[in-house]
Amino acid sequence: MLARWQVRAFYDRLGAKLDWWGSWADPAIRDLLSNATFEAAVAVFELGCGTGRLAERLLDRILPPQASYTGIDLSPTMIDLARRRLKRFGDRAAVHLTDGAAHLEVAAASCDRFLCTYVLDLLEEEEIRTVIDEAHRVLSADGLLGVVSLCPGSTLFSRMLTGAWARLNAARPALLGGCRPIELLKLLPKGAWEVRHTRTISRCGVPSQIIVAAKVER
Ligand SMILES: C[S@@+](CC[C@H](N)C(=O)[O-])C[C@H]1O[C@@H](n2cnc3c(N)ncnc32)[C@H](O)[C@@H]1O
Repeated sequence: MLARWQVRAFYDRLGAKLDWWGSWADPAIRDLLSNATFEAAVAVFELGCGTGRLAERLLDRILPPQASYTGIDLSPTMIDLARRRLKRFGDRAAVHLTDGAAHLEVAAASCDRFLCTYVLDLLEEEEIRTVIDEAHRVLSADGLLGVVSLCPGSTLFSRMLTGAWARLNAARPALLGGCRPIELLKLLPKGAWEVRHTRTISRCGVPSQIIVAAKVER
């Protein structure tokens, strides 16, 4: 795995070019947008907001006019790009730089959608578990977790491709920014989440898993 400073350096270098990847990820993001009832959201939180692409789409076309958005990211370059992109939404949108810690400086029960797209697949398994626990803490009682991650393939071709990807990441993590396929469903603690929607969508043989899960009070 890459250290946080290496992940930050990778995304600082990548900058606005991350949006090229955004068009590759679009079918999975569309699936997430169709299955997490954003039309009823009040306060959206996103971990790893990147250039603010998803936030702009939500604020522009999907969220109710009174709904707010808060995003955090580890990369100062991404924060700068996201701030510029979201400026026109005024105080409906806030974006903050984080040190990348899995424990979040976010108040309990302060949002009703917690989003994380193509970020958990960069983290250590222990950090993923902590982020999921943090999502549970910061979501309100009716809150939804919406996650998209690279996942292992199910067909022969995609298994070969994601296997090669995982091997390349293990040997040269800096090449892929530390991103590798993960089995996220296995990491959701039993009894804490009710999975409302899950689907795997492949693009060019590389599969992404979309999960929408409702918080269950423990
Ligand atoms: C693959 S990009 C995905 C960006 C965006 N979510 C999307 O789907 O287009 C990963 C993003 O997560 C950020 N990131 C990586 N590790 C992070 C961490 N521990 N905390 C916050 N952001 C992180 C990176 O800086 C980068 O902007």
